[in-house]
Amino acid sequence: MGDGLLLDVRGLTVQYETESGPLVAVEQVDLQLREGEFLGIVGESGCGKSTLLFAIARLLVPPARISSGSVVFRGRDMVELAEKELRQVRWRDFSVVMQSAMNALNPVMTVGAQLKDVCEQHSTMSRREIALRSAQVLRLVSVDPRHLDSYPHQLSGGMRQRAMIAMALLFTPQLVIMDEPTTALDVVAQRSLMVQIRELQKRLGFAVLFVTHDMSLLRHFADRVAVMYAGQVVEVSSTAQVFGHPLHPYSRGLLAAFPSVTGPRVHLVGLPGAPPDLLRPPRGCRFHPRCPEVMRSCPNVEPPLYEVGGDLVRCLLYDERGGRAGTSERSS
Ligand SMILES: Nc1ncnc2c1ncn2[C@@H]1O[C@H](COP(=O)(O)OP(=O)(O)OP(=O)(O)O)[C@@H](O)[C@H]1O
Ligand SMILES: [Mg+2]
Repeated sequence: MGDGLLLDVRGLTVQYETESGPLVAVEQVDLQLREGEFLGIVGESGCGKSTLLFAIARLLVPPARISSGSVVFRGRDMVELAEKELRQVRWRDFSVVMQSAMNALNPVMTVGAQLKDVCEQHSTMSRREIALRSAQVLRLVSVDPRHLDSYPHQLSGGMRQRAMIAMALLFTPQLVIMDEPTTALDVVAQRSLMVQIRELQKRLGFAVLFVTHDMSLLRHFADRVAVMYAGQVVEVSSTAQVFGHPLHPYSRGLLAAFPSVTGPRVHLVGLPGAPPDLLRPPRGCRFHPRCPEVMRSCPNVEPPLYEVGGDLVRCLLYDERGGRAGTSERSS
């Protein structure tokens, strides 16, 4: 794994203009990704994961807009790039794999035609080069190149996701952004796809930003994990830390909610209640109404990100003035 900084997200805020006012779906997010690193982003439905990825990839459409912040990718701020410059970077330097290949792939075009389309739009490759490269990327993801002639509906769900990943790897980008690429698959197909993504990532050296609501999926694959709650990053820790000793009470709840990929799915045992309405997020710490460790100051003080042994956590438990030492302050 290289040590160079590949992606540097600072103060990124995204809002949707709604009839009831602005809905801030991503608030002041800071994230760093090194070359070749696998960063998992996890959180419940609606916490802003897709919005964050779309903002980074500059794929947001109205009513969404980036209201502040920067996304520096290989030294250039993506937020400032013109559409024309973006087209040169997208696919070649970074690519995106969506949750459902069924929606992302064109149902009336063969896989081969779709790969060719991307090649033609983003390179000057000859027909022969395109044919060779298309077969090569399908082989990379363990799909027989005879499926170049298949239509998406003729492939299994797992194969469609693989075809999407093949497309994302056409130009061997340095960053592949993946939004729940395995969610639509059964557990066995999910696991095998994860193993393959990790293997390809190590072999080809690209970095991965990987969104999932299932924390257990990240255990064996991510280098670091960012936990999101109600539009904010509440913890960024190494994978060992977040699975061994999660810092944030919300991370602990998520971990209890998804004990393992294969185990029974216990729905949010550690997390009673529902995520807040982002039009009216709770005051103070956004997690305080659901937090089993809530303290008197939590409804009033918005916690910053504290650094704890190299990891980051947004929780007043880690405030030196109150914090761990001040657990006597607990309201319950
Ligand atoms: N087009 C839209 N207009 C208004 N609000 C939106 C729109 N799209 C998303 N939102 C809101 O933005 C917030 C974040 O949504 P987002 O899709 O990013 O969450 P997510 O974490 O990806 O959820 P999931 O796990 O369900 O995919 C949600 O509260 C959602 O209701
Ligand atoms: Mg999503």
